[in-house]
Amino acid sequence: MSPCRVCSHPIREFFDFERQPLSSAFPRPGELDQEYFFRLAVGMCESCTLVQLIDAVPPERAHHQGYPYHSAASSVMCKHFEQTARRFLETELTGADPFVVEIGANDGVMLRTCGDAGVRHLAVEPSGAAGVRAHRAFFDVDSATRIRDTDGTADVVYAANTICGVTDLRPVFEGLGLLLAPDGVFVFEDPYLGEIIDRTSFDQIYDEHVFFFTVRAVGALATRYGFELVDIERLPVHGGQIRYTIARPGRRAPSPAVADALRTEQARGLAELATLERFAARVQRIRDDLVALLHELRAGGARIVGYGATAKSSTMANYCGIGPDLIPFVCDTTPAKQGRLTPGSHIPVRPVEAFADPYPDFALLFAWNHAEEIMAKERAFREAGGQWILYVPQVHIV
Ligand code: TMP
Ligand code: ZN
Repeated sequence: MSPCRVCSHPIREFFDFERQPLSSAFPRPGELDQEYFFRLAVGMCESCTLVQLIDAVPPERAHHQGYPYHSAASSVMCKHFEQTARRFLETELTGADPFVVEIGANDGVMLRTCGDAGVRHLAVEPSGAAGVRAHRAFFDVDSATRIRDTDGTADVVYAANTICGVTDLRPVFEGLGLLLAPDGVFVFEDPYLGEIIDRTSFDQIYDEHVFFFTVRAVGALATRYGFELVDIERLPVHGGQIRYTIARPGRRAPSPAVADALRTEQARGLAELATLERFAARVQRIRDDLVALLHELRAGGARIVGYGATAKSSTMANYCGIGPDLIPFVCDTTPAKQGRLTPGSHIPVRPVEAFADPYPDFALLFAWNHAEEIMAKERAFREAGGQWILYVPQVHIV
């Protein structure tokens, strides 16, 4: 069994989703023989308690071209990144000539807001970022050195939904060691294991999410790489995340929020395998309930379509065995996904206009992390008698 990616101790497996495709590799109808599958299984490190995938997708197989993340597709996420920028502008970026770097650019919303305020900024993103200055590379020692030589040290390095997918974190922290100003901060946000367990949102587990962080595990990670975890903040986006603030050791007094979160995690047994095994039992229950519900509705003649061809829905559909026989299509706003099939489960993806043409009886909300926004936008569906099927935190109809 593979060792922990951070501390090299053994990983104890607690769930195996078996054969799964790459969550953002949407094949065209004629390309089904080219799909790549790997064993999606998760475990917890015996020593540093970091929860992580057991097998990673080899880098040459990982899906790099294709479907860049579009935060602009969600007005909630745009607002979130604008607010994040404003907060940095009021707190960390108030010096004489501040400099902010983002690893992975999330459509550039955060950096553009900083740029509009006259702050020097740079995205470190292999595929570039629209409307913002970008260094086209992965963030590591080499790119950090180049950036420091050109732009000087950074007051803030930020990453959203990125760090949890970086299999080798050592070069990232070595790069930070070079690029961060003495009092600079590294701020990153990712799905929180505590929320995944609370909501049984097992669909957060897929190829691009390698790590499922806790405050305890991130604290240990920071220390191991020569930094200190000084603040955490719960975020409501994407089904519940934590934003971690990391500084050079001894430069900032850790906020009470860190100690509070550590106590809460300890009390709820977040670092205990038994907690994760109970989660695993609930995952199976959700699958059984959802599959039974879909079959029952279909047997009664109901028409059900999917809403949101998210990366998350790849694990959901493949683990539950949901294919075009149960869900004839899934609608999604992303042009690059339309006309293709969902990875592994081969459900056709159609533009959202197909949703109302005519409305189905039920819509399976794969993009449940955008539930509020989507349900508000699609109010007419409910008014026409349609109902939403959700599976987080348990299978229910609204
Ligand atoms: P995400 O969970 O990674 O943000 O992906 C959301 C997916 O859902 C993405 O493929 C776009 C799609 N989507 C819609 O189709 N309609 C919407 O209103 C929103 C917010 C997202
Ligand atoms: Zn470990």
